[in-house]
Amino acid sequence: MIHDFKKYLDAKRVSLEDYLRSSLGRIELCPLRLRQTIEYGLLAPGKRIRPLLVLLATEAGGATQRQGLPAAAAVEMIHAYSLIHDDLPAMDNDDMRRGQPTCHKQFGEALAILAGDALLTLAFQVLAEEYPPVTASVCCRELARSAGAAGMVGGQAEDLECEMNHNRRETATTLPADVTTLERIHARKTGALFRACLRLGVFAAHGEIPGGPDPAFLECLDAYGRCLGQAFQITDDLLDVEGTLEQTGKRVQKDAAHGKLTYPSFLGTDESRRRAEALFQEARDHAQTLGPRGARLVDLTRLLLERTR
Ligand code: IPE
Ligand code: IPE
Ligand code: MG
Ligand code: MG
Ligand code: MG
Repeated sequence: MIHDFKKYLDAKRVSLEDYLRSSLGRIELCPLRLRQTIEYGLLAPGKRIRPLLVLLATEAGGATQRQGLPAAAAVEMIHAYSLIHDDLPAMDNDDMRRGQPTCHKQFGEALAILAGDALLTLAFQVLAEEYPPVTASVCCRELARSAGAAGMVGGQAEDLECEMNHNRRETATTLPADVTTLERIHARKTGALFRACLRLGVFAAHGEIPGGPDPAFLECLDAYGRCLGQAFQITDDLLDVEGTLEQTGKRVQKDAAHGKLTYPSFLGTDESRRRAEALFQEARDHAQTLGPRGARLVDLTRLLLERTR
């Protein structure tokens, strides 16, 4: 059964990657080196979890994959931009991503920053150009809120602030971080975009219906996305401790060395795994309340719990 589900996701990944490639037609006339940097960051072999979530939500809403593709692509563009910037020397300073040198290692910092800027704006262009007005507007609002200063960007800022405070603690009077702070950082830097994936998927399906989507349906998927995002970042933190470069495509054992506030550093690996399992279970419970419509979202929680990359 899980084998069939993996095949189902692989087919979706192929459609999505074709769509991403064709979306880059919009920037065909941009300077060559910039376009190469954008392509390098966006089309590198990522897992595409976020756009798959969009497509699963669109289909749970009874619409076709085609309707979800622009929203899925927009989310992946935002995600790819966030990774390019996250790897910069001023942030996590990483040299490997998705099994290849990071964008700034390959093209230099200035082009990496600009490629991130370009992907961020292209995401909104795709939404605005591909959807009818009401759907485009709700999708743009949702994505801007979740990716912006009160969402992902805010989470990234707090993540770095905690790291800095930790590394200064010898000499400063800042208080050690607590689990509430940790949860808030995860909810913002990763959870916000996960939630947006589900919501965008529903808007893509039902955006033009007078009165918008059924609030109970939206709320259920939103709760699912919140749990899944939190669990996903805990698993990412665990992979940094327990995984390898070959598996994950990025350097590992860096979070502790940098003094990052993560679940494993705060609660240990066993308790972190328990929390991730509990959150995946909670996500599954939410999806199950949707009956057959939620079946694939249930399957996804199983895959993500066992992921090794
Ligand atoms: C990495 O995300 C950043 C996190 C928020 C944990 P992914 O693990 O989804 O990265 P890709 O897209 O597969 O490279
Ligand atoms: C990044 O979290 C979250 C983003 C918003 C990009 P991490 O810094 O833990 O992601 P990785 O481990 O570099 O992929
Ligand atoms: Mg980071
Ligand atoms: Mg990082
Ligand atoms: Mg990480």
